[in-house]
Amino acid sequence: MKQVNVGLLGFGTIGTGVVKVLQEKKEQLAQVIGTELNLKWVCDIDLTRARAVKMSKKLLTNDANQVLTDPEVDIIIELIGGIHPALEYILTALQNKKHVVTANKALLAEHGKEIFSTAAKVNKSVYFEGSVGGGIPIINAINVGLAANRINSVFGILNGTTNYILTRMAQEGADYQTVLKDAQQLGFAEADPTLDVSGMDAAHKLVILASLAFQTPIELKEVLVEGITEITASDIQYAREFGYVIKLLAIGKRTEQGIEVRVHPTMLPKDNLLTSVNGVYNAILVEGDTVGTTLFYGRGAGMMPTASAVISDVITLSKQILCSRVNEKCNIPSTMNFSLPIGKKHIPIKPIPRLTSKYYLRFSALDQPGVLAAISGILSRYKISISAVIQKGRKAKDVVPIVMMTHEAMEASIQQALVEIDKLPVIKRKSILIRVED
Ligand code: HSE
Repeated sequence: MKQVNVGLLGFGTIGTGVVKVLQEKKEQLAQVIGTELNLKWVCDIDLTRARAVKMSKKLLTNDANQVLTDPEVDIIIELIGGIHPALEYILTALQNKKHVVTANKALLAEHGKEIFSTAAKVNKSVYFEGSVGGGIPIINAINVGLAANRINSVFGILNGTTNYILTRMAQEGADYQTVLKDAQQLGFAEADPTLDVSGMDAAHKLVILASLAFQTPIELKEVLVEGITEITASDIQYAREFGYVIKLLAIGKRTEQGIEVRVHPTMLPKDNLLTSVNGVYNAILVEGDTVGTTLFYGRGAGMMPTASAVISDVITLSKQILCSRVNEKCNIPSTMNFSLPIGKKHIPIKPIPRLTSKYYLRFSALDQPGVLAAISGILSRYKISISAVIQKGRKAKDVVPIVMMTHEAMEASIQQALVEIDKLPVIKRKSILIRVED
């Protein structure tokens, strides 16, 4: 049977992993698909850099157009990352009647609508298993494995960099800046770590995951995003004293008032399944009405885990291509109903001020009589009930951390109370809140 031709755009770390799998597992892939998978092009603007794979120079090009316009290419794999020119290349690939595989979460989260509506118009598929959870086959699990379910919630540790930093802070009692610097030296954090530590990378992934899980379009601007930069070693220590572990969690939850989508540092009870997910690992807890609770765990990034996910998409598409070659009418419906722009009801997103949660609050206050009374007076006016308080010895001259746990409260009330508390002359720094998930 005629081979399936693949063109790769982006010969970086993941691209190299993809080439490696295509070369080393050629026979296995041919057996699974039913025909040979042929890597026809590898395109990158820099072809001089040394890579961990060897290949014929005839495959290499730095002209993406050569790949995108080659009539023999069936599948374009986009591993350039970023928005431009990846977006333009994907749209051109689709217009040129090619299927697309991408691991580009930022692009899908920000331009998913445009990409998937173009794909629908030209009747081609865009698959994206590598975009969330690296090697964990979570997209396929939600789309196929859990298709018999109404999914009620997804809780994910979706960013390896921040999980690594929080894990080391917890294990060593070290502060954020020290661990970040070390993580950068060890290659676990980018030179510019903003996307990861701000929570935005996890938010991109949550947009994709929650759109699929709840079968509704979700926009990035609807997600509450908070990063880990304000978390201190002492927050982690206090959390431990209260019986909790702090994780950067991506949360998607179906509630009667709409869908909650949020990424923020979260205190989880120490016996929660996700608290033992350490280092660069990712995990996603999915709760469906039929299956109950399921947990997916694995390497959320890196050359070979992400290549594993990308190749799984290439296999699915190749089978689809073979099927349509045999029978023109064979039109396997895309299992990846991601953007859902057409004919789907938009489930409302719950406004952030209406969230309810228990909260951990840390105040930096002068060590004076009446401070606790002033803080608790404001909290009580906003009907926020305190469940526990810790105040220990002085750490800085005259300024002490006062830590409180609240009972269930409304986000709007907490935010307003904190604004008032931070105006008290005895409060010396911006107060910190961490939401608690029981
Ligand atoms: N920077 C991401 C992480 C990997 O730390 O998990 C790519 O999604």
